[in-house]
Amino acid sequence: MKFFIDTANLNEIREAHELGVLDGVTTNPTLMAKEGITGKNNILSHYKSVCDIVTGDVSAEVIATDFKEMVREGEELAEIDGKIVVKVPMTRDGIKAIKYFSDREIKTNCTLVFSAGQALLAAKAGASYVSPFIGRLDDVSTDGLALIEQMVLIYNNYGFETEILAASVRHVMHLVQCAELGADVVTCPLKVITGLLKHPLTDSGLEQFLADYRKGNAHGG
Ligand code: G3P
Repeated sequence: MKFFIDTANLNEIREAHELGVLDGVTTNPTLMAKEGITGKNNILSHYKSVCDIVTGDVSAEVIATDFKEMVREGEELAEIDGKIVVKVPMTRDGIKAIKYFSDREIKTNCTLVFSAGQALLAAKAGASYVSPFIGRLDDVSTDGLALIEQMVLIYNNYGFETEILAASVRHVMHLVQCAELGADVVTCPLKVITGLLKHPLTDSGLEQFLADYRKGNAHGG
């Protein structure tokens, strides 16, 4: 399973990278705005800074909503670095753009996916990744993880190479359940990745081991 970090914050990206478990980064216009990155040139150079930190794929989202402009923006984004994956929303024009990029071997991430039908369509169009937003489904009393289960079944039935990139992953149990269900990738905030470290029995067990070591070695020897 690949771990992506869902942020545009360079310090958090560095921290996850230094942990040694980071396979890529996803961003979106909201996350860029949160870091105060505005204006086309700043946005493009920020993507370059992200690519310089990590070794894996970096999703960069188009802002355009019409096919022609999505293609223009996507090609510009793909020029930044070989790690860039063009992130395209699940719309009619988005699907056309994904097919266009896929025919030209430009990697894509179809975003804002909320149903199995949308996920099937995006895979059909040749998306490299499809991002079901599980937390946002949970927010509206719909089981986000059930969508992951459906997607795993459908993609396996037909051998689609499209990777399931579970997004809007809000907590550690989301991540663990995505792993149980066979999602290819999860993207989540740093705190979800570091949350995997935590268990009170690990903390108390280590404390005891160190206390016993100190007791045994108190008088030299
Ligand atoms: O990866 C998608 C993500 O950025 C959305 O997360 O928590 O805003 O639903 P959230």
